[in-house]
Formats: sequence, C-alpha cells, structure tokens
Amino acid sequence: MKTNFASRVLRWFDQHGRHDLPWQKKRTLYRVWVSEIMLQQTQVKTVIPYYKKFMQRFPDVKRLAGASQDEVLQYWAGLGYYSRGRNLHKAAQLIAEQHGGRVPRTSEALIALPGIGRSTAAAILSQALDQRQVILDGNVKRVLSRYRMVEGWPGNKAVEQQLWHIAEELTPSGRNADYTQAIMDMGATLCTRSKPACDDCPVSKDCMALAADDVGSYPAKKPKKVLPVKQTRLLILIDQQGAILLEKRPPTGIWGGLWSLPEVDPQQDIATTCQQRWGLELTHHEESPVFRHSFSHYHLDIRPSRCQIVDQKNAIRSEGELMWCKPQQTDFPAVAAPVAKLLAAVHD
Ligand code: ADE
Repeated sequence: MKTNFASRVLRWFDQHGRHDLPWQKKRTLYRVWVSEIMLQQTQVKTVIPYYKKFMQRFPDVKRLAGASQDEVLQYWAGLGYYSRGRNLHKAAQLIAEQHGGRVPRTSEALIALPGIGRSTAAAILSQALDQRQVILDGNVKRVLSRYRMVEGWPGNKAVEQQLWHIAEELTPSGRNADYTQAIMDMGATLCTRSKPACDDCPVSKDCMALAADDVGSYPAKKPKKVLPVKQTRLLILIDQQGAILLEKRPPTGIWGGLWSLPEVDPQQDIATTCQQRWGLELTHHEESPVFRHSFSHYHLDIRPSRCQIVDQKNAIRSEGELMWCKPQQTDFPAVAAPVAKLLAAVHD
C-alpha cells in the first residue's frame, strides 16, 4: 500500500505537477527557504511576482540580513501576515551571525530560527536537498485526513499527531523532493476544500472519505468561536498640498512595523485629538463608511475619517515615526492592505 500510494502520487506529479516554479530553478537552501515562508499562507500564483522581486533585491542571506526591516517589509507589502517577513529578516540576521551566513542543513537548527516550524523545516530540506523528510502543511492535512478518514479538527494536537504518523508511513525514501511537492500540489489543485476533483486524483480508488461519499466532511472544521468585534478609527489627514500623514506602527501587534494611517480612539472628538496629538488644526472632516477587516482572532470595524488640515508653519514634520506622503510618490512605504485600500480611494 505504501509504495503504491507514493508511486501513484509521483506518476501524477510527472504528468500534472508544477515543475518550473521560480524556486525550483537553482534550488539553494536560501531560495527554497524564502519560497516556503511566502507559500505558508499564500497561493503559488500570488507568491510568484513577489518572490521574483524579493530575489532580485535580496539574492542571498547576507543581502537580506544587511537590509533594514522597513525595506524588507516594503517587499512583503501586499502578501499579508507580515510577521512572516519580520521573522525571515530576523532569521537571516541570526544565520549571518551564528551560521556564517549559510542556511542550516538540519531540521533542529532550522526550527530554532523564527518563523520555521516542523513542516516548513522539512519542506525546505526536502525541496532544496532532497533529504528524506516528512511534511504536513494545511494542504497535506486535508489530503491525508480524507484519504484515511481521520476524525477531528487537525488543529487539535491528538488529531495532528495521528496525521503525522500517516504522513510518515506514506512518505517514500526516494524522490522525496518530488513527492513532497506532489502532495502539496495535489492538496492545492485537486483535493481542494470545497470542490475536490476526485475524478482526476491518483489515489481516489482507495480514498476512504470518497468511498464513504463524504469527502466534504473531512477535515473537520475548527470548532466555531464567535470572534469579538473591535472598533477603531483611522484618520486620513490631508494637507493643502495633498500629502497624507502616515504613522509607523509599533513593532508588535497588528500590522507591526508597517506604516499606517494614524489610529485614534473612535470615542474621542477628532479635532481635539488632532490638536492634542500633533498640534494640527482641521478645516473640516468627513466620515467615510465603516468597513470590516477580519483577522484570525477578531473583526476590526474601521471608521475612516478624512480630515483637511490648516497649513501652518509649525505643523509637524516628517520625522521618526511620522511621515507626510503623496499617494503617487514612487517610494511610498509599505502599508497593510486595508490601509492601501483607503489610500487608493482618497482621490476618487
Ligand atoms: N505550500 C507550501 N510550500 C509549497 C510548495 N513548495 N509548493 C506549493 N505549495 C506550497
């Protein structure tokens, strides 16, 4: 059964898998590591253009370690989950200091770096060095929980443990890089969450969930928790030249380290806040419709307020954590997606 599963997966990969992704060319540990981090929560087709630009600017560990966090995040802007970018940068600095600039070749050393868990470490070593490694990312969990009808939510430790055992049992010793790529590709393209293409699947004939005509029930969904809703206000402060005030977010928390529209207490009077916080006087302000941005742990209802400020000689300048920017300027800094959306609407 074991060789049979892997050989069918590999045969499928030879015909239908992805063979010419940018990180599959020149497979160095560095290039594969960056790709695996970008691919953690983002689809291949979204990652490709970001990956190419990132590699042009940061072709090796040394160049990444030597860059500022601001610049690294600039290249990450739009990919989301910015802690991935911050961790990648931190890890590059650790590799430069502790490993002579060479990405480590063991899973223990990789897992010790920020942003790399057990499955990502395995994927890196498998993809870059063809080491015999066992992976279990979200896509693979879906394939295996259907194939073996594993009950329970994979975020549960015991369920995850069971899936690791199955993954271990099914992973072949030869062609490991092809096998791990194949099973990730199967999860992403065939064994999808809502429209699985079982007719095209190389292992459908002994898929237990398919035999039970119950593919849709696996893997079990995360037990639902009602997410709390938080309220906030973002100010679009515009001066008479059309420049907008941006404020750098603290290094931790949502959008950590990114530039953002200033966030203020939605209960407080806007004119008073502007006066107290920045000494800015407003000519007028208007509210835009509330919109919701959802994080994994809460919904954020954002009230955008567009404020025209009086030009004054002693108004705050761009310095430290504050910066006046024109939306059309080419060196516009990295901002989170909802902030980018608000900025794009300024001139509508
Ligand atoms: N997700 C994580 N790693 C991946 C890879 N190498 N190919 C496709 N999807 C992935």
